Parts: sequence; C-alpha cells; structure tokens
Amino acid sequence: MEIKKNIVLIGMMGSGKSTIGSLLAKKLNAVLVDIDKKIEKMENQKISQIFELKGEAYFRELEFNVTIQYLSHHNKIISLGGGAFINKEIRKMIKYKSSTFWLNWNTDTLINRIKNNNKRPVIKDMNLADIKKLISERNKIYNLSDFKINCENLKKGEIVNKILQKCKKNEITC
Ligand code: S3P
Repeated sequence: MEIKKNIVLIGMMGSGKSTIGSLLAKKLNAVLVDIDKKIEKMENQKISQIFELKGEAYFRELEFNVTIQYLSHHNKIISLGGGAFINKEIRKMIKYKSSTFWLNWNTDTLINRIKNNNKRPVIKDMNLADIKKLISERNKIYNLSDFKINCENLKKGEIVNKILQKCKKNEITC
C-alpha cells in the first residue's frame, strides 16, 4: 500500500499514539517517527529528565523544532507528543503534507492510564480536577484534527483497522 501523505497521530498522553503508530507502520510497511523518542535520543535523556533539568520551555522549543522537521518529510507515520498539536504553528504546518488522526478516549479511561505514572511530567503536580480540565481543554483542540477515532472499547488491531479504513476512503493510502 502506498501512503500519499504523512499519517500523524495525535491525542492525550496515554492514548496509545506510539503503540498504534508502530502497528500502523508495520501494516503499511512505512517508517514510524515517534517525536518523543527522537527528542530523547537527541538529548540522551528521558522526557521527564528534560523537564526536570532543563524546564518545560526548553522541551517545547525542542519539540517544536523536531516536529516541524519531520512534518516536512513524506509518507511517514508520525506519533506526536500530547502537547504538540496545541501549538498553532505546528497545526498550520501539519496541513501541508499530513492527515491527522485523533485517538479519542473517555476522560476516565485516560485518567486511569496516566494517573500514577511518574513518566508524565505535565501532570506530575496536578490533582484530578486539574487533569480533567486539561483533558477537556485539549479535546477542543484535538477536535480540529482531520479524523476523530473513537477508541473506547476497541482492541489495538481494531483501532488500526479503523484508521486504515479512513485512509483508504479518503485516498490517503492507495
Ligand atoms: C506531553 C506528552 C508527552 C511528552 C511530554 C509532554 C504533553 O508525550 O511529549 O511529556 O504535554 O501532553 P505522550 O503524549 O506521548 O505521553
């Protein structure tokens, strides 16, 4: 199968962007670009360490530059960090060569997945109400994606198939 545009996966932390991206890449025989992993490799540090030692602003600048760089590529599956699509410039750039798929889950499912995880610096000091607010605010922006994939109650393979169906129907793959 040929991919005509980059397939960009967006969504909250814990939405499965890396896992689904990797399965999708295998199915399409395409290269997966996991932006967080690229950043960790470049800095030789985990994302949580970058936040802790260099601060969020430093991370966001790096995320911006790395994301923009890969968005200029072709025929890739790109898994974005959960905060990247919130950046207006990134959203603008995505439109040129990519189609965006939002992996959407119920708030409670996301909270259960991300709550006791110290690898998530953005929510480290947040209480439940703060996390709910963040999800609700971000959902409004994720909703600007090209395709919304409702993932609740679906198995990984079913999510991948749903994305592939949309790709075929919209001639993103052929
Ligand atoms: C972030 C999500 C993380 C990572 C960083 C910031 C966010 O990626 O980029 O911790 O702001 O939502 P994942 O969505 O892959 O966990």
